Amino acid sequence: MKELIKTLTETYGPSGNEEKIRNVIKDLVTPYADEVKVDALGNLIVHKKGSGDKLMLAAHMDEIGIIVTNIDDKGFIRFSSIGGVSPFILLGERVIFENGTIGVIGVEKIDDMKELKMKRLFIDIGASSKEEAMSKVKVGDMATYYRECNFLGKNISAKSLDDRAGCAVLIKALQEVKNPKYDLYFVFTTQEEVGTRGAKTSAYSIEPELAIVVDVTICGDTPEGEKIAVDLGKGPAIKIKDMSVLSHPKIKQLLIDAAEKNNIPYQREVLDLGGTDAGSIHLTKEGVPSGGIAIPTRYVHTPSEMVNLDDLENTVKLLLAVIEG
Ligand code: CO
Ligand code: ZN
Repeated sequence: MKELIKTLTETYGPSGNEEKIRNVIKDLVTPYADEVKVDALGNLIVHKKGSGDKLMLAAHMDEIGIIVTNIDDKGFIRFSSIGGVSPFILLGERVIFENGTIGVIGVEKIDDMKELKMKRLFIDIGASSKEEAMSKVKVGDMATYYRECNFLGKNISAKSLDDRAGCAVLIKALQEVKNPKYDLYFVFTTQEEVGTRGAKTSAYSIEPELAIVVDVTICGDTPEGEKIAVDLGKGPAIKIKDMSVLSHPKIKQLLIDAAEKNNIPYQREVLDLGGTDAGSIHLTKEGVPSGGIAIPTRYVHTPSEMVNLDDLENTVKLLLAVIEG
C-alpha cells in the first residue's frame, strides 16, 4: 500500500490532464481486469465481471492545480486555479508542469494578508525573458504542487491524496477480490475537482444499478479545527451526506452492515461543504442509488494532505466486504 500511494501521489494529473496518472493506473489494473477502456472524457473504466447487479465503484484520478493565464516580458508567469486552490497555501510553494518544468510561487509586495489574492501571485521558472519562459511553458499549461510523499509513523503526507488515496483503495480491492457478488465497474474518473464531470459521462455509459464513491473527507481532530465527527485513524467514514448527495438508504445500510458484520471500525460522514462524484452519478438517467466511503484526511487541498495507513487498509476491507457480500 505504501509504495502504491507513493507512486500515485507523485504522478502528475490535474483536471483535464489525466493522461500520465491514467497510464500509471492502467498498468496496475490491466492484469486483474476482464476489460479496460478509456471513454471520451478520459475516464478509465475497468470491468471485472460478476453475476449480480452492476455496481459502479468510483474514485477520481484528477488533482487540483493551477493554469497559466499569461507570461510577462521578464518571464514571470501569472495563473489562475483549477479546483480549490488557496493563495494562502500557495505562498512559498513549488509547482511542476507536465514536461517537468519546476516553478517557485512568488508574491507581489503586499502590506496586509487580506490583499493576498491569486492575481498577486506569480510563478518564477528561472527564465529571464518572455521568450525563454515560453520555450518551457505556454499559456494554458497546468501545474500541480511539487511535493514528495512521506511516511510519518502510521500517517502518510503527500499531495493529491485527494483522491489518489481512493484510487489506491480501488486498485487494491480489484487486485484482491475473489468472488464478486456484483458485476463490477471500477472507474477512475476525470475532472472531479472542477465539478464531477467525468463521473457524469461514465455513469451514463455504464448504467449501474448502484454506486459507491471512494473519496476523501476532512477531519475534525486537529487544533481548533472544523466541527466534523471524523477523526484520523478511526476508520473509513460512511457517507451520510455532502452538498452534492444524500446517500441512498440502501447503500448506507449496505456499508454499515458490512462494517459491523466484519468488525471493521467506521465513522459517519456528515459534510456541510463540498461534494463528490456521487453527486453526478446518483442523478444519472432514472437515478442510481449511490453512497460513498470517505477516507479521513487532514489538510485537504494542501500539498501536505494526510491520511492514515490503517484507515486505508480498513477502507479496502470494507469495500471487499461489500462486493463479496
Ligand atoms: Co478535492
Ligand atoms: Zn476528492
